[in-house]
Order: sequence, then structure tokens, then C-alpha cells
Amino acid sequence: MPAIVVVGAQWGDEGKGKVADILAEHADVVVRYQGGANAGHTLVVGDEKTVLHLIPCGVLHPGTVCVIGNGVVVDPYALLEEIDALRKRGYLEDDSLLKISDRAHLTMPYHRAIDQARERLRGEGLIGTTGRGIGPTYEDKMARIGIRFADLLDAGAFADALRRTLEEKNAYLRNILKEQALDYDRIRDDYERLRERLAPHVIDASVYLDRALAAGRRVLFEGAQGTMLDVDHGTYPYVTSSNTLAGAACGGGGIAPNRITGVIGITKAYTTRVGSGPFPTELIDDLGRKLREDGEEYGATTGRPRRCGWFDAVVGRHAVRLNGLNGLAITKLDVLTGLKRLKVCVAYKHEGQRLEDFPASLSALNVLEPIYEELPGWEEPISRARSLEDLPANARRYIACLEELTGTPSIMISVGARREDTIILRNAFTM
Ligand code: IMP
Repeated sequence: MPAIVVVGAQWGDEGKGKVADILAEHADVVVRYQGGANAGHTLVVGDEKTVLHLIPCGVLHPGTVCVIGNGVVVDPYALLEEIDALRKRGYLEDDSLLKISDRAHLTMPYHRAIDQARERLRGEGLIGTTGRGIGPTYEDKMARIGIRFADLLDAGAFADALRRTLEEKNAYLRNILKEQALDYDRIRDDYERLRERLAPHVIDASVYLDRALAAGRRVLFEGAQGTMLDVDHGTYPYVTSSNTLAGAACGGGGIAPNRITGVIGITKAYTTRVGSGPFPTELIDDLGRKLREDGEEYGATTGRPRRCGWFDAVVGRHAVRLNGLNGLAITKLDVLTGLKRLKVCVAYKHEGQRLEDFPASLSALNVLEPIYEELPGWEEPISRARSLEDLPANARRYIACLEELTGTPSIMISVGARREDTIILRNAFTM
């Protein structure tokens, strides 16, 4: 009954799509357990590029069951768009290959409207959300006024819940956010149609996963966003609205902690982030721009340019501690090819003190300075490397440095966008 979790070890966009897709080859079931359509997981198979927002990456493997857990917030329009696009390309032909928890919350049109209007009103102080309604959906869940799939399936309960909630949301949209009110009949009718399409997928996902694990099936829990976007342990308030850590696979997947047999952290060989907020090793110079162009660092969900910087081992250790990482999957090593010297942040300096751990205070984060160690770079192209021995000595040295600073061995190194551009060092399911 192996159950492994893969999580982002930085600010998201670490290449979880590619790594989860590779690991999914050995999995019977792949589960999303938090986040929503804010995620954008890019997969490249052959010459075909697929971007997934809600459906787990296992979907490209024939016969693998994909589960959207109770901790995910689901925009049914975005989900159906994704299902239709995948079906057109021959995936997900059988309804039973996609399961949605009856306890997962629905993102409603007012959640998107509120998210986008609030960001507009924040002006310069904006969080830089994806505008997908994620925060407002989780707010309603915690306020106990959310609408779940179980409610969607019950037409009467859904109509009542929508009427009650929409009254309050429309008052907020009109009076506070100065936006237009939304029409009750239209939302109810639209969701009626969505119900018909989605009902065959809705199940008690916790019971399903428990039985799958008991039957010895291999389950992969696929995290979205990254450790530094976790609502508790990230760069609050510049974070997403869910717990993004490996532990959230329990609450958001409906499984017990002792079911998890391993945790893999995905990290780029450098660092990126989209949206606002602290980023100690950010490069706001030509080198930062070069990393953005060479690494094609533009958001998969919103197309926004990503901020780029050096690898940060303080962030790495934060991720190892919070997630209990057993192994690292290091991505985009090829993007560093051609740089003469490489820097790695080993600690921070703040008010004359050396900081080994990531601080909570925003004002400290705004003024602290990274302490760097320098390593020599390499010139040789590495995208055809399939084993460590195929890498130039300085690239091996760089990997060894990241492993030593984070105290975690690497299990996989990605050297290009395609599935096959990967050095596999260990099988995550049998670590
Ligand atoms: P939200 O999740 O849309 O509320 O956005 C909150 C913050 O998380 C913003 O800085 C987003 O750019 C960031 N974010 C959300 N999802 C992702 C993701 O999948 N990758 C990277 N950043 C993300």
C-alpha cells in the first residue's frame, strides 16, 4: 500500500506536472488534495503540450484513476473545459477514470468576481492572485457557507444554499466592491446543467482511497502550488489560501497520516515566483531576465512573467522540515548551462546576525541579505544526459551542493521539458 506525496519545495511552478507525470507511470491512482484551478501543471509528451489546472497528472497514463479530493476547490466550468479538451485528444474516455469527492467545495461565479474585484481595489498592494476565486472559496468553506458537490447533487438543497449565499454576496459585490450583482436564476440553471455532466464522477473519495490502499494499489498524492505559498508556513499574506504541505494530503485527501510512505519535494535548480511578496534571492538584473527567457518562465495559468533568482537553501531546509522530504526532484538544471559562476544562498544576514531559518516577519524579509556560496558553472549542453555520469563534473558538484545544504538526496534530475529528458536515480515508490 505505498502512498507517496509530491510537493513543491519553493513558490510553485517547480515542475510538479512533469515529475508527477513520470511518477504516475508507477501509480494506480493519482490524487489532487488542495488548491484549485489556480494550479497550472505543464506536461510535454512527444511534441504535445498539455496544461492541467484541476485534473491530476495521472490522466495521460491509460487506466490510471484520477481523484479530486475533498480539499480541492473546484470550479466546475474550468473542470468541464479540461475534461472536454482531454476527451478530444483521446484521454479520459471512461467516466470511472475521474472521481470527485462529494465533500469538495465548489468555486462559484461570485468567488471569481470577488477575487478579481478585490485585487483591482488593492492597487499597488495587490497579492497578485490568479483571479480564479480560490481565496473566496476557501473563506466560505471556513465560514461554513460553502457549497459542496454533495449539495450540488441535491437540487433543492443547492437552490436554497445558493439563494441564501447569493443575497449576501450580491450586497458585498454592489455596496463594498462597487461591482454588478449576479443573477440567481442564471447561476442556478447553469449549475443544473453542470450537475448532469459531473454527477457520474462524484463519490466518497476517502472511502475509495482507503479501499485502494488496503488492496495494495499505489497512490500518488500530487500537491499544487508550493511550500512557500502555504497559508501557515509561507510568506503570509503573499500566499495561496490552502495548506500546500505534504501533511495536507491527509485532510484534503481523506487518508490517515500513517498511510503516507514517502514524500518527494520538487525544486528548481534556481528559484522563481509569480505574484507579489518576499523573494530574498531575486535577481532584478540582466541575469534574472536571462533565466526568465532561457527557462521560459511565464505562468501556465495566467501567462504572467515569473520573477527569477538563485537557489535558496534556507527555503530548501524550510521545505525539508515541514514536509519531511525523503528525496528531491531537481528540475530545469539545463537552464543554468552556460553561466560562468553559480550562486547558492546558504543563510541570510539580518541586523548583523546570521539567520539559518526562514523568518515570519515581512519587515525582516524586506531588508535581510542572502549569504551566497559560489560554484563554477558548466558550458556543455546537458539535455541528453540520462545518468549522473553523463553530466559535466561541475553540474554534479552543483547537485551535490544542493543535496548537502538541504540534507536530502536527489531521486530525479530534470534536464529538459520532455518526459525523457530526465535522470532517474531512484524509484519513489520503493525508496
Ligand atoms: P491564488 O492562489 O490565486 O489566491 O493566488 C495567491 C498567490 O499564489 C499568488 O501570488 C499566485 O501567483 C500564487 N499561486 C497560486 N497558484 C499558483 C501556482 O500554481 N503556481 C505558482 N504560484 C501560484
